[in-house]
Parts: sequence; C-alpha cells; structure tokens
Amino acid sequence: MPEKQDVELEARLEDRQRFEPPESFVEQANVSDASVYERFEEDWPECWEEAADLLDWDESYDEVLDDSNPPFYEWFTGGELNASANCLDRHLDERGDEAAIEWVGEPTDEDNRTYTYEELHREVNEFAAALEEMGVGEDDVVTMYMPMVPELPIAMLACARIGAPHSVVFAGFSADALATRMNAADSEYLVTCDGYYRRGDPLEHKAKADEGLAGVEHEVSDVVVVDRLGDDYDHPMGESHSAYADLVDAQAGAEVEPVSRDAEDMLFLMYTSGTTGEPKGVKHTTGGYLAWTAWTSRAVLDVKPEDTYFCSADIGWITGHSYIVYGPLALGTTTMMYEGTPDYPEKDRLWDIVENYEADQLYTAPTAIRAFMKWGSQYPEQHDLSSLRLLGTVGEPINPKAWKWYYKHVGDESCPIIDTWWQTETGGMMVTTLPGVKDMKPGSAGPPLPGVDAQVVNADGDEVAPGEAGYLTVQKPWPGMLRTLYQNDERYIEEYWAEYSDTQSDDPDDWVYFPEDGAKIDDDGYVTVLGRVDDVINVSGHRLGTMEIESAIVGVEGVAEAAVVGGDHDVKGEAVYAYVITEDGYEEDDAMRQRIVEGVEDAIGPIARPEQVVFTPELPKTRSGKIMRRLLEDVANGEDLGDTSTLRNPEVVSEIAAKVDE
Ligand code: WTA
Repeated sequence: MPEKQDVELEARLEDRQRFEPPESFVEQANVSDASVYERFEEDWPECWEEAADLLDWDESYDEVLDDSNPPFYEWFTGGELNASANCLDRHLDERGDEAAIEWVGEPTDEDNRTYTYEELHREVNEFAAALEEMGVGEDDVVTMYMPMVPELPIAMLACARIGAPHSVVFAGFSADALATRMNAADSEYLVTCDGYYRRGDPLEHKAKADEGLAGVEHEVSDVVVVDRLGDDYDHPMGESHSAYADLVDAQAGAEVEPVSRDAEDMLFLMYTSGTTGEPKGVKHTTGGYLAWTAWTSRAVLDVKPEDTYFCSADIGWITGHSYIVYGPLALGTTTMMYEGTPDYPEKDRLWDIVENYEADQLYTAPTAIRAFMKWGSQYPEQHDLSSLRLLGTVGEPINPKAWKWYYKHVGDESCPIIDTWWQTETGGMMVTTLPGVKDMKPGSAGPPLPGVDAQVVNADGDEVAPGEAGYLTVQKPWPGMLRTLYQNDERYIEEYWAEYSDTQSDDPDDWVYFPEDGAKIDDDGYVTVLGRVDDVINVSGHRLGTMEIESAIVGVEGVAEAAVVGGDHDVKGEAVYAYVITEDGYEEDDAMRQRIVEGVEDAIGPIARPEQVVFTPELPKTRSGKIMRRLLEDVANGEDLGDTSTLRNPEVVSEIAAKVDE
C-alpha cells in the first residue's frame, strides 16, 4: 500500500502544469539572467560570439556569419581551430589529473576505466600518430563501427586532431548499413571492435564488420580492431587489419601537432534517415558545431568543469557525439560512458552508476523513462541520487506523466528537467527551457533558445495562432546547423529548405529551415513538438525511414509489396507495423513472418524489427494509387477509421483491421 502522503503527492503533481526552477539550482546556474533572451535578439548574429568565446582559436575569425549565399551559411569565417586541442590540450594545465572520461563496462567483475585528461590526451596523440602512419590525411573520411568503448571517443578525437572527418556508424546497425555508409562517404578506413557485452553475453561484432566490408565497392586500405572481449572471442583478422593496442603501443609517447582547421572545415559526417531510402550524410563543421555544443552544454546542461556529467545515449547517435563527447569535453568536465543496457544486471543499472559516481546531471530519453516507470520506483529508491542537480530528456516527445515520474522519483522534486528538442541536423539543442531561467511545463519542450528563431507555421508559412497545430520552422541560421548533405547540395536544399523558402532568392530572409516536425505553440511562446510529419518513425528515440524498412521487406523472397507505419507503443513511443502482400504461391505463415523480420534486421538492424507483420491481399490506396499511410496508422493504433470513401478499395481497410486485432 502506498503511504497516504505519497498518494497526496501524486495528486498534487498530477494537477500541476507549471514548475518553477528550484531556488537552489538558480543560485548556482551558469545562466540565470533572463535578459539573455532580449540581449541575443537585439544583438543577433553577433550574440554568437559568446559561443565562439568558449573555444580557443588558433586564428581569430573575421566575421560571425556570412549569409551571402543562403542556405550555404558560414559561421566564424576565417577562424581556425582544432577540436581535439579544444577538448584536450587546453585543459591539461588545470585539469590534467582530473577525469575526462569515466567508463563503466558491463561485467561487474571487471575494473571500470578512468581516463584523466592527461591520459586521454596521450592516447589520442598515439592513435592520431598511428592514423597518420597509415596514410590518413586531412579530409579523408574515417568510418567507426564501434560500441560504447573508450576507444570510440579516442578515435574520434584522434581524427579531429589530424583533420580527418569521422563517420560513426551505430554498432547496432547491420553489415549492410555499414557498407552503404562507407560507400556513400568513399571511406577507405575503418575502426571497429571485436565485440562487446550486452545483457550478460559477449556479442561478436567483428564478423558483422567483415560482412559489411565485403559490401564496400572501393578498396579499404586499413581496418583497425579494438580487442574488447579478450579470450571471450577469438576474432578473425584479415590482411589489412591491425590490432588497436599494437598500433598505440608502437606510438608510445608520440605527439601529434593538432592541425589548424578552418572554422568551416568538416569535423564529421553522420548518416541519418530521411524520407527516401538513401540515408542522408549530414555534414558538421569544426567551428560552428563545437561552439554550439559547448554553449548549449554550458547554458542548458549547466555543465561545470568539476561536474560528473552522465548522458546515457550511445555515441553512435548525434546525442552522444554532441553531449557525451564534444560539448562536455570542450568544457573540461568529466563525462561518463557505460556499456550495456539499463536493465542488466538489474533494473537499477543507471541509478547504481549515478550513485557510485555521484553524477551531477543525467541526460536520457523518454523511452528509457517510460521503461523505468513501468519497472517501478523501487529501483531509483534503492539508491542515493542526491548528487543529481539537473535532469534532461531528448529524442521524442515526453508525456506529462513520464515527466512527472522523472521529476519526483529521480529528481526528488529538486532538479529542473530540460526537455530538449533538436535533431542530427541542428547539431545541438534548439528548443528547451534554460533551466536557471524559465518555468517548466511538462509535455512542452519550452521556448526556443535565445538567438534561435523557431516559429510554428501553417502550410502557407504563416504563423499559427496559439494552440493550433502547425509545422515547426527555424527562420534564421544558427552556428551548429548542418552545412549540407555530403556531396549533395541539391538534396540539402530540397530536404530542408524548399518547403518554405523562395529558393531563387539570395536574401537570407527568404530562407526558412524545415525540420519536418509538427508542433504547436502556447501564448507564452512554449513549443510542444508533436512528432514527424514525413515518413520517418521514431522508435525508442531512434529515427528510422519507413522507405528503408519497406525496401528491406520487399527484398525478401515472396514479398510483392509492403507498407510500413509507426503505431503507438507504451515504451518505445512508436513501433514498426508492416503490412505485407505476398506473391502467389507463398504461404502467409510464421515462417514468412520470420524471414521478413530477419530481412529487416539484416538490412538495417534489430532496432527496426517490425512489432507486427500483417498479411493483406491489398493496401488501402487513393484513387490516384497512393498508399493511405494515415489509415494504416489508425489501424495499428486501433482507432476509429472515419471516412474511407475516397479510397479506391475501401473494403480492404476493415479486413486489415480485423487481422491486426487477432
Ligand atoms: C524528435 C535526436 C519531441 C523530432 C537529437 C526530431 C523530439 C527527431 C525531441 C530528431 C523532443 C527530438 N521532443 N521530439 N524533445 N527531440 N525529437 O536526428 O521528431 O535522431 O525531428 O536527433 O527526434 O531525431 P535525431
């Protein structure tokens, strides 16, 4: 039986729609002066000097923003800097002996690893020297296909040191996905890993990497393999493969001068899902991106050098790039990494880490919070979480119930929560409260950050009235923005700008960025993000293109046609529903279902695995032959189907609905 006090508390929280930032937080916050909003608006774009000032520049920039050729904006033009020097070298004098990375492996009988700034600097230099010796030069793209091991950020920073852009492929992606990304980036170098631990088992990874390499169309000159599993896995090594440890040993004590990169030089590429089947190579630059991640880490995550900051994301996604690696290390703090999952060995894994390391911030995803909620508050309650000062979420909308659970059971009602809206393309946070300044409204991300001109508009591009649903747009450029899609300027314009811009104009006021999210805005300017309006679904905060999944399914023998939609899911937010038409002569049975699921796992990875495969004789189509996805979503969600009379084949809908219910 819950205590009476608890019941009252729950009721009190349930009714509350506004939460003030706790006094104790405001008093010590990096940003607590509300005038920042006005100041940035008046002083735009020069306000962003404040972000650039957080970095050390080898050559100072001439201009904050060059907007002479929209939407190819340039920030901090003429400036030169090195990201690895900003994340490492400049902290050595004051913070050399302090921890830069705290890494927690999954097996409990294994020692965790701490890298001080001194140690991290040393190993990054050694690996940078090894890359140089391999022949990696400035602007050569190095691919990383790695799980959460410290060698991943080390390899990223080593690349940054020598000016070689990295392209990190999430370890959970399939061999095919690796090959597609290496082909698209013409990448001749791969850093990978023999395997990793997950839910108690060693998972082999190297064989998957080799399978991916077999699909690369050009010659791959070098493959570096980190030995994570030791005796647990005797991994195969090919001719051009070398062991990471040998390379680093051979360079013991080596120092590599960080190259001065132009502010606009590429720091990295990150492939993400879009409307079409081909993943998009989002290009981020050295100056603007680093300034953006450093500034937002300071202003929103309230990171201070003496903090132990914990983001539970995977570095294979943008959240890990920006808010495990670059932002926190640029500020000289201690950043945490952990291997495994939140429910192994017990469902208190994260709380155990927070307690042991006395983490100051926790930045996680709504899908994780919904799972914690389902497991119950006894797990966080077993631990002393009083070190936490701030909580954050990212990746998908958070419902007020999950928000309040997080606030109470993890934050003990004394930590502000930041609900941060942003994307791979934006480089860092865009819409969220400043935790030391603004009230929080559960379910609503908050106002746009100072200097960010986000507006909710209708299909004509006019601002909607408060409360009305519309489309989120960003009306002015910002330093952390993507600069283009790798070697595809045309697609860059088409995907992000064409919708609301006058693409013939060279006046920056005629250019509007469209993130493909629906949203509404309250009269106090708070933005509630409603989700994607394109054919992208968000499974556990991971972006997946329905087209990518459909083409994987159609690739399975015996499948004639497929349509994939996102259906509501308690924990994952959305789950993949696949509607499949088989060819004549193929059984619609569990074996076929199994082959479809395997087909998707092989093409993309287990995260894209369909929750349900529904066989249907036809797909609901409009008279012009377009698949009515909306209807299929309603079917998946068990919703009322409304008017189906505009369909060419209305009768098929109830037939499909009956099958989903089964
Ligand atoms: C969604 C992840 C609501 C949104 C950093 C966006 C969110 C997509 C939020 C980007 C949030 C992210 N509230 N929706 N706080 N944060 N999204 O590129 O649909 O993996 O377009 O970047 O996630 O996903 P991506």
